Amino acid sequence: MMQEEIFRQELTARTEKTENVIRKFLPPSEETDQATPQTILDAMNYSVLAGGKRLRPILMKEMYDMFGAKTQGIGYFMAAMEMIHTYSLVHDDLPAMDNDEYRRGKKTTWAVYGDAMGILAGDALLNYAFETAAAAFSLCREKDDYLAVSKALRILAFNAGINGMIGGQVADIEAEKQESELTEEQMIYIHTHKTGALIRAAMQIGAVMGGDPETVLLQQIERCAMDIGVAFQVQDDILDVIGDSAELGKPIGSDAANGKQTYVTLKGLETSRREVERLSEEAIRILQEFPGNHDFMEALIRHLINRRS
Ligand code: IPE
Ligand code: IPE
Ligand code: MG
Ligand code: MG
Ligand code: MG
Repeated sequence: MMQEEIFRQELTARTEKTENVIRKFLPPSEETDQATPQTILDAMNYSVLAGGKRLRPILMKEMYDMFGAKTQGIGYFMAAMEMIHTYSLVHDDLPAMDNDEYRRGKKTTWAVYGDAMGILAGDALLNYAFETAAAAFSLCREKDDYLAVSKALRILAFNAGINGMIGGQVADIEAEKQESELTEEQMIYIHTHKTGALIRAAMQIGAVMGGDPETVLLQQIERCAMDIGVAFQVQDDILDVIGDSAELGKPIGSDAANGKQTYVTLKGLETSRREVERLSEEAIRILQEFPGNHDFMEALIRHLINRRS
């Protein structure tokens, strides 16, 4: 098991490296030879560079290394992943959705640039993500490289879309209008999709790019990722009730203000906490079946159980 002190140093180092990768792939903040409006570049950079834990690209890179770091171009996908995650937050915060004014310790994108620019900055990040990820083909040399990048692109699109994050966000918004208590199935659908899907994408892309794209077992990774994803969202729901907004960088009480039913409103804080632990331990158990060294990944999953931000 990894010592707490070493884990913290490792996490800081990996977060900094990820930060540099993301910066490298963002559109230049000042376009000189194109007539691209400056506002959209500013709004995109503002939202992505506002901070954030960078959890998804960190998970992706960890899986990539564990599975053998085979295909070149993981950086393109790490950056694309964070752009899609950030766009989901930019839209999630809009007045028409969760109506939140703080994110990552700063004013939300719509609060600074206006609703229309918030919508467009999200759209722009989504498209730029696929432009960035597709550029990984430029590093392909052999048939397996092309196969890995194609599979990774498909995983990204699938999980960001109607069968993934968007599906979950739709169910989340529709559930606000539902007066009866959400069923267990509805809650699980929402959590696995709005949050689990992008974590599944991050982990599966890491494995497909890192290992043998033909034989890598995506279903096994899915089980692990969904446990991490649901635990992560239940903890997010807990922090929305008992968190500290300064530490979190976003308001607390947003779910209550929107009349959202969450794991916490349905099951209470104590059961929710136990569920975060149970799911995380289950994820760690599945992780043991993966190749490579899992010490950091295991410590990261444990760290997320008690996260305060
Ligand atoms: C927030 O995600 C949205 C959820 C899925 C709960 P994060 O908690 O990973 O947000 P950042 O990227 O660190 O800001
Ligand atoms: C959002 O869930 C998940 C996304 C896909 C953006 P929340 O609405 O609970 O996320 P926060 O609390 O605003 O970060
Ligand atoms: Mg939301
Ligand atoms: Mg929200
Ligand atoms: Mg939340």
